[in-house]
Amino acid sequence: MNIVGIESSCDETSAAVICDGKLKANLISSQHFHKDFGGVVPELSSRAHLQIIAPLLKQALNQAGIKKDEIDVVCATAGPGLIGAVLVGLTFAKGLSYSLNKPFVPVNHIEGHIYSGFLMDEKPEYPYLCLVVSGGHTLLLIVESETAIRKLGSTIDDAAGEAFDKTAKMLGLGYPGGIKIQEEAEKGNPDFIDFPVSQCKNEFDFSFSGLKTSVLRYIQKEFGNAGNIPIDKIPDIAASFQKAAVDALIQKSERALKNYNVNSISIVGGVAANKYLRERFVLLSAKYKKSLNIPDLQFCGDNAAMIAQRGVMLHNNGLKFDLDYNAYAGLPESAFIP
Ligand code: KG4
Ligand code: ZN
Repeated sequence: MNIVGIESSCDETSAAVICDGKLKANLISSQHFHKDFGGVVPELSSRAHLQIIAPLLKQALNQAGIKKDEIDVVCATAGPGLIGAVLVGLTFAKGLSYSLNKPFVPVNHIEGHIYSGFLMDEKPEYPYLCLVVSGGHTLLLIVESETAIRKLGSTIDDAAGEAFDKTAKMLGLGYPGGIKIQEEAEKGNPDFIDFPVSQCKNEFDFSFSGLKTSVLRYIQKEFGNAGNIPIDKIPDIAASFQKAAVDALIQKSERALKNYNVNSISIVGGVAANKYLRERFVLLSAKYKKSLNIPDLQFCGDNAAMIAQRGVMLHNNGLKFDLDYNAYAGLPESAFIP
């Protein structure tokens, strides 16, 4: 069976092909021009998706060694995301499905991330603790099966990736900030400043806005404003921020491991690419003797492989979707994430 996945929810256009369970292509085209604006400009994002989507799919099919009329199922991100951007990929996929007369599967983007660990050779084992850390979402979940997810907690304000991006901006490191913070932090002392970990009413919830404010207060108190931060202090601030952010993720995950019986741990989403986070979760999983699944870097950020992979799961579970399916009528509310 040949499955095509399309992803266009933010600033990555991606096309993937899975043939008989094997990933044959996962092409990702990133819109780097947004950095000139300090963040993603939705209208420009939609236009760029529109230009690249057809040639990108053609290239993915070539790489997979299949022809268009050999496609069996077409899957696409249906939300959440920037609506104009989502609609480019979604409508393109619907058109393809219609012209080929093959099933169309709309995929919730977060579900794509949640099950992205299954793209790895060593798969998560149900039930598994899943930490979703992306630019828009932070969720702590117990994934019980392909169709059963329990939510333990989520962020009550900023998402983890958003905290990285906003802190990077404060430090004058530009956009996207996550990788810049990581690079600066590698040169700095994580114990230089003791930034706090916020506690919430629900012990599994996260809050990152207090951490962001603490960084801002520290900068204002020590240097007056961000423009005056001595260049040699940036690595220490970045490392201290990164440690506090990851401490929060570790703390709530450890709490979950003490309270729930799981067979493995999976960390997914763009922030799961973070080197320091990966190292800390290796230690945590060893402490609790759980297998750890963190997808390869190409599957952490937005990618179509995870959309094809989640789409085929839904398809194999017998779910059917009409072509008049409306992105904002059923999704982005996931049928599976509580
Ligand atoms: O999953 P993703 O690609 O898009 C969303 O669905 O939101 O996540 C993007 C987020 C951004 O906030 C980006 O700064 C962050 O992931 N990110 C990182 C790293 N690479 C990407 N954060 C920390 N360290 C990284 N190495
Ligand atoms: Zn994402």
